[in-house]
Amino acid sequence: MDAASADHMIRHELQEVPLPVRQGEEQIRVAALSEMPQVGEALEFRLVNKRICIANVGGELCAINNSCPHLGASLSRGRIRDGKIVCPLHGWPFDLKTGETPVRPTTRACIYKITIEDGDVFVNPL
Ligand code: FES
Repeated sequence: MDAASADHMIRHELQEVPLPVRQGEEQIRVAALSEMPQVGEALEFRLVNKRICIANVGGELCAINNSCPHLGASLSRGRIRDGKIVCPLHGWPFDLKTGETPVRPTTRACIYKITIEDGDVFVNPL
């Protein structure tokens, strides 16, 4: 198979992936509100091409990239403490509103805006 054919096949496969994007908006549906973590807990959710961690901080949902920016551990397996999720591998705390960690100020985890509408949870995957 030549490169052009392979490229065509890849594009064709990508076009067939159903994207749960609301028309006219840049938000992706994650799951129903009823599937979200309980207060003080975090869960991993898979989007089209990434995994995010949604944490429930005192009843407020926060979304952060699930891959720790240090060495890639799953942040959803960490504990929530004082508005931060603590990485289960080396204990770096990441602020769930800013993605910042006091351990290394130049490192920041990606965070995502959450919207809840009609019983569904959406994130902006930028
Ligand atoms: S992998 Fe998360 S702090 Fe090291």
